[in-house]
Amino acid sequence: MRYEVDFLVVGSGVAGLSFALKVAKYGSVCILTKAEASEGSTKYAQGGIAAVMYDSDSFDKHIEDTLIAGDGICNREVVEMTIREAPERITELVQYGVNFDKQRGGKFDLHREGGHSEFRILHHKDNTGEEIERGLLQAVHDHPNIELKEHQYAIDIITQHHLGQRVTKHTPGVECYGVYALNGDTKQIDTYLSKVTILATGGIGNVYTTTTNPITATGDGVAMVHRARGVLRDMEFVQFHPTSLYNPNERPAFLITEAMRGAGAVLKDLNGQEFMQKYDARLSLAPRDIVARAIDNEMKLAGVDHLYLDARPIGKKELMNGFPTIYAKCLELGINIAKDMIPIRPAAHYQCGGIVVDTHGETSIKNLYAAGECSCTGLHGGNRLASNSLLEAVVYAHNAATDAIERVNSIAHCVAVPDWDAKGMVLNEEMVLITQTRKELQEIMSNYVGIVRSDLRLQRAFDRMNLIYRETEDLYNRSVMTEELSELRNLIACAYLITKQAMARRENRGLHYSIDLLNNK
Ligand code: FAD
Ligand code: SIN
Repeated sequence: MRYEVDFLVVGSGVAGLSFALKVAKYGSVCILTKAEASEGSTKYAQGGIAAVMYDSDSFDKHIEDTLIAGDGICNREVVEMTIREAPERITELVQYGVNFDKQRGGKFDLHREGGHSEFRILHHKDNTGEEIERGLLQAVHDHPNIELKEHQYAIDIITQHHLGQRVTKHTPGVECYGVYALNGDTKQIDTYLSKVTILATGGIGNVYTTTTNPITATGDGVAMVHRARGVLRDMEFVQFHPTSLYNPNERPAFLITEAMRGAGAVLKDLNGQEFMQKYDARLSLAPRDIVARAIDNEMKLAGVDHLYLDARPIGKKELMNGFPTIYAKCLELGINIAKDMIPIRPAAHYQCGGIVVDTHGETSIKNLYAAGECSCTGLHGGNRLASNSLLEAVVYAHNAATDAIERVNSIAHCVAVPDWDAKGMVLNEEMVLITQTRKELQEIMSNYVGIVRSDLRLQRAFDRMNLIYRETEDLYNRSVMTEELSELRNLIACAYLITKQAMARRENRGLHYSIDLLNNK
């Protein structure tokens, strides 16, 4: 099938839904999403969204905290813009119907997380993301101009390459005409022509064995732009969350929010001893790169596969009221967090880099925008400050929408785009070729390109990946397209970009840490 829309949105998390709501007055909007609409990282966000709401805090402090966490490579202009815009975007979320917890007097109840010098995290209990996703989805469903299509998997963005022209990294004026998408019901590949396209496809967590990210986080948007020869940056900065619940067979790993440490929970080793004093004066509330590395080191020194978070100092009443989801989840597993310490380990959590965008959210490819976790705005630099990502997503969805609205009427659909050509392709009947390769890739990345790296580990990962890449491209060139195959290609592309950019960075900075570069810090 062929479709024509004004605004095409790929992804139905906070970034995609926010953009759709903003542009809907100005043309037809179609949201494609590869799973159920609510599935994505947004739904799993616990801690909340950072914003300066009252005079007890200041923009300058939030800016400073963001710059410090980013380890000197944030874009200051972007940081200032994002943080100053935050209160307006929060007000809009509330207008869309999102609820944040309030204190008795009516003021927002604010939490504090690692790296923040003030209490400034707006939250809804410990399930803020679920509440944001619920509110935005409701608003989208209520809007007559927005069509939301579930189980539609975007395979590739369409550019001049699909018109038979050679496109390289140096080709000027590459344009996006829409996307090819695999229809989950018909199994056919549909052509979506759009005037404006936005990628809001989320993160890359599934490049690793242990991740807090849902199954949808396979770096599809990043890989699509890589294939279309667009500009990507900072892929080596993968953030590992220090405290995912240690429950080996659970995927995604369940998160234990950093807000718990903000409320008084403390990291301990298996003997019940605190250890963060060896690593940073801010103890359990140090920025998460430092905390994750400290945990990784303690685990390696002791030869164990988890440590503990002691949440008992918070007290049972506050644990039950403030962290009901975590309380219930742990209880289900026989852990009473008011009495027992919580077993934790780090897990891949957030991709700081991605598709490079300007302050309007536009990528290096014309008429293609990106927002949310798949994008690289310059806000996070080498390490994202906790709870700055939901904020970045709403700010950039707004900026991209403002720009796209101004331009949409001057753009025409490119009707010369051909439909997807599947001639000569055969059904791949051996799923093991895909599932086993995916596992291998995750193992390689976890063991060699994880929290702590080395030249040898990176080189080894790169060599192994090359083989996996060639085998998978062979399979792709002869097989009927499936979501599993496409996701595998995307994961390999992201793994390659992370590794290659990590090899190129000759300094320990932010989330990139190599034992061979210790003296450079
Ligand atoms: P997502 O919400 O991940 O949405 C991506 C969407 O794209 C999904 O709908 C997916 O199905 C769709 N999609 C992907 N590929 C395709 C494709 N090929 N075709 C069609 N559709 C596709 N950040 C904070 O600021 N505060 C927090 O407290 C916080 N807590 C977190 C807790 C957890 C457990 C996790 C995993 C993340 C947390 N984060 C937090 C990070 C934050 O939630 C994410 O960065 C943010 O929600 C990303 O939003 P997004 O819209 O970019 O992507
Ligand atoms: C958390 O709640 O600890 C996650 C916050 C974040 O990733 O920003």
